[in-house]
Amino acid sequence: MPAIDVCALEDIEEEDVRRFDRGETTFAVYRMLGEDVYCTDGLCTHEQVHLEEGLVMDHVVECPKHNGRFDIRTGAPLSAPVCVALTTYPARVEAGRVIVELPE
Ligand code: FES
Repeated sequence: MPAIDVCALEDIEEEDVRRFDRGETTFAVYRMLGEDVYCTDGLCTHEQVHLEEGLVMDHVVECPKHNGRFDIRTGAPLSAPVCVALTTYPARVEAGRVIVELPE
């Protein structure tokens, strides 16, 4: 798995999300408190809306379109209308940078 340097930790506010793209694929990287970071697919599984516009709180992202919610730690759908999980990717902070491991 290639490790991708996404951005500086301080580029993401606490309890916020930022989008990044690799080729044709969009991802979302989240920061909770401190160095607690996560990465998921960037598009909602309901209607392919960008989750970067979503609301993030308590390890949950709420889609901006129909308010479906996902657990950002597991990708699990938490409330209708979403019923398909997001894929998650390992994320960590190293020397103040957010590092995500993506499939080849
Ligand atoms: S597009 Fe995300 S809940 Fe409908």
